[in-house]
Amino acid sequence: MPALEAPKRMPLLLLSTLLLLGGRLCLPPCSALAAAATARRVLVAGAGGQTGQHVFRKLLAEPAGQYVPVGIVRSEASRDELLGSTSGGVVVPPESVVVCDIANANPSFLDDLMRDADAIVICTSAKPSPTGEIDEATGRPKFGFPTAILNLIDAAKRGGVGHVVLCGSMGGTNPNHPLNGLGKVRNADGTSSGGDILKWKRRSEVYLIDSGCPYTIVHPGGLLNEPGNERELCVGVDDVVPGTTNNSIPREDVANVMIAALEDERFRGRSFDLVSKTVGDGVVTRDYAALIESLAGKNCDYSLGEAA
Ligand SMILES: NC(=O)c1ccc[n+]([C@@H]2O[C@H](COP(=O)([O-])OP(=O)(O)OC[C@H]3O[C@@H](n4cnc5c(N)ncnc54)[C@H](OP(=O)(O)O)[C@@H]3O)[C@@H](O)[C@H]2O)c1
Repeated sequence: MPALEAPKRMPLLLLSTLLLLGGRLCLPPCSALAAAATARRVLVAGAGGQTGQHVFRKLLAEPAGQYVPVGIVRSEASRDELLGSTSGGVVVPPESVVVCDIANANPSFLDDLMRDADAIVICTSAKPSPTGEIDEATGRPKFGFPTAILNLIDAAKRGGVGHVVLCGSMGGTNPNHPLNGLGKVRNADGTSSGGDILKWKRRSEVYLIDSGCPYTIVHPGGLLNEPGNERELCVGVDDVVPGTTNNSIPREDVANVMIAALEDERFRGRSFDLVSKTVGDGVVTRDYAALIESLAGKNCDYSLGEAA
């Protein structure tokens, strides 16, 4: 495991603001020091992914002193790709990206990552992935399911991280949802193995709630690679969202809501579904406080559906 190079909240930020000009060390003005002192260190897991990248780049683009984002990516290749792109006009500083396969990470590595973190935003995918083993009964590859998010939640709890914002998915109340069939294999004895992605995601959510970490769980509908900030957003619970029959949402809008959750206490301890209306229908959402208030205190009911 390589040495952790993520910026630590205070010391590196302060160092980076000490400018060596003409051979003289110039101390930054007091206001810059104060800003550095209050900047929130936010980890973004899945920072190279499509939704995570929106979150990460938006946090990087915030005014200096607001956030110190640290992106977590699975591989060097993902890191190179992230650093090589200036999507959204944002250059990603190499020192803000940490390579870590959270499914297989050493707990002490995760503990180092969580040290001084104020929050973590989790946008990792949870696709069924081959374990490398073959199921003898079917002769097909066995699929394993990610304990990755559980590892992050455990580490966040050990580190006393102040807020965990998790991207889940709509559909969790329906155990027979077609997404649960992805990767599922019917065994010779009539049982099945693999699949159940939404049940596994739901398990991570229940695990987070039970962990005692302050949390926000967002269940988006189908994700779109279309621009955000152009639609009215709608929230609901238990796979029912009043106000629209549309069941999709741009990834950028999901990122906006996850960032709003970092900034507004009203999003703490909340679990809700999120979709958008189509462009031109309704009024573009700008007030995220009003959006969460529109739920009138409702949260998703985890006694519904099934968790893996
Ligand atoms: N697709 C939909 O319509 C839909 C609908 C509702 C909810 N969701 C959920 O929304 C979230 C975001 O979806 P998305 O499509 O934007 O994601 P995505 O583009 O698939 O990105 C997911 C990221 O997670 C990273 N990741 C996965 N396992 C990891 C591990 N063990 N360690 C470190 N990084 C890991 C991946 O890294 P690599 O690139 O290295 O693999 C990838 O960059 C997911 O949780 C998804 O299940 C999706």
